[in-house]
Amino acid sequence: MLGRYVLTTKHPLRIAIAGLGTVGSATLDMLEKNRDLICQRAGRNLQVVAVAARDKTKHLQKIKNGIQWFDNACDLAPLPTVDVVVVLIGGDDGIALKTTETALRNGKSVVTANKALMATHGVRLSEIAEETGAQLMFEAAVAGEIPVIKTLREASAGDRITSVQGILNGTCNYILTRIGEDGLTFEEALKEAQNKGFAEAEPSLDVDGHDTAHKLALLAALAFGIPPSFNDVSVEGIRNVSSLDIHFANELGYKIKLLGTARLTDRGLEKYVGPCLVPKHSVLANTNDVLNAVSIQIDTLDPITLTGRGAGGKPTASAVVADLMDLARGSSVLPFGIPAAMLKNVSPALCEEKLSSWYIRMRVFDKPGALTSVSTIFSQKSISIESVIQRGQPGLESVPVIIKTHEVSESAMRWALAKISKLETIQETPCAFRVEEPAHEDCPDSPNRMCQRAPEGMGKPFNLG
Ligand SMILES: NC(=O)c1ccc[n+]([C@@H]2O[C@H](COP(=O)([O-])OP(=O)(O)OC[C@H]3O[C@@H](n4cnc5c(N)ncnc54)[C@H](OP(=O)(O)O)[C@@H]3O)[C@@H](O)[C@H]2O)c1
Repeated sequence: MLGRYVLTTKHPLRIAIAGLGTVGSATLDMLEKNRDLICQRAGRNLQVVAVAARDKTKHLQKIKNGIQWFDNACDLAPLPTVDVVVVLIGGDDGIALKTTETALRNGKSVVTANKALMATHGVRLSEIAEETGAQLMFEAAVAGEIPVIKTLREASAGDRITSVQGILNGTCNYILTRIGEDGLTFEEALKEAQNKGFAEAEPSLDVDGHDTAHKLALLAALAFGIPPSFNDVSVEGIRNVSSLDIHFANELGYKIKLLGTARLTDRGLEKYVGPCLVPKHSVLANTNDVLNAVSIQIDTLDPITLTGRGAGGKPTASAVVADLMDLARGSSVLPFGIPAAMLKNVSPALCEEKLSSWYIRMRVFDKPGALTSVSTIFSQKSISIESVIQRGQPGLESVPVIIKTHEVSESAMRWALAKISKLETIQETPCAFRVEEPAHEDCPDSPNRMCQRAPEGMGKPFNLG
């Protein structure tokens, strides 16, 4: 019987892979090992015909019969034997950009995992793809095996999305999990992540939040029909999060996660990346180690939360192969869901006006009246306090004081923190993280809801005076 599972007589989808590192090698491997399954499900053969990387000697074993080798990835696209170029070289310009542009200009489709490239040049590359009729796909650029690009671009295309929020960097999530579980310092947890291959030798792109900002820029573009841009994302990394913070956050009913958030508000579009306290029982809070999670809020419906492995060779290759299979089936989608010319900026919400409650950790000298000065500064900006934790120990010169505030504007909080830092009774610059309150007040433990159980003793404004 003829059916959709029978291979068609179409010529195979002929693939060239640029870059044979972690993702490139895993893609090649998956296409070979799962060949029959992939071809059966795509209804067409997928065949790797050419590869390119820098150092041929490293990759000799991967260059099987029939696969052509190239030192220059730009030489792949003009080949008449190539239908699609898979760009798995990093960087937002240089060879990755050149290879992608050359392919699209030659009318060859591109599949890429390169988020920096897409977040920086996404609009221009989409325009070229539209002009030449090529496809440009980048499911692998955000959250590895989680099909979040497809969900935003296709599954939720008819819905009005109001926010996208997620744990988008596995390295940071691993480090935060290790700090929380074993009381490691940031440096110890980073070293462990590097030893296990979860973090780069040069980790700043990950731990300072820029990788999350690149991914957030892509998700926001798809969710809100805006041009991808990460320069307007307020970004803070995880270097200041300590085991003390994770401990006290837990006492308050929260966990600390590095979140990327894009949210439409009455004041405009908020885009920020930073360590945030999330309710302990929420899906985001329980997404640990290298896992990622993305929560999409649609109008008044409950959020959809997707979780899975966000990085690594195999999970990322799985997203690359899914895009290749879509191409093999003849799918045709615009990279950002709408024509590049229709991507329009939404006015940004000023970060200073953003209302949130805050978690603040400060080290206060154990002297009478020390907290009164803090309270006086808060009262000058009408900042009200929801909870205070102070754990003094006899003989210690200073003690940690943890404060959770009610909602306050970011500008008021920054003003107060600057003043508090200058107090003689404060030993070091206070640390402050936003608290992401639950979307729904009373919610069962449904995986599709963000929920919080109020810890005992919380809820009433506190008076420090
Ligand atoms: N690793 C992950 O978990 C992950 C997850 C999601 C997305 N991504 C993205 O996927 C892309 C690839 O990441 P990766 O981790 O696979 O990188 P990688 O392991 O560093 O591999 C990069 C590959 O690019 C090749 N290359 C570099 N410069 C080249 C040049 N000038 N000409 C030809 N080839 C060149 C390298 O060649 P040699 O091998 O010969 O040195 C290597 O094979 C990046 O954009 C990354 O952000 C990675």
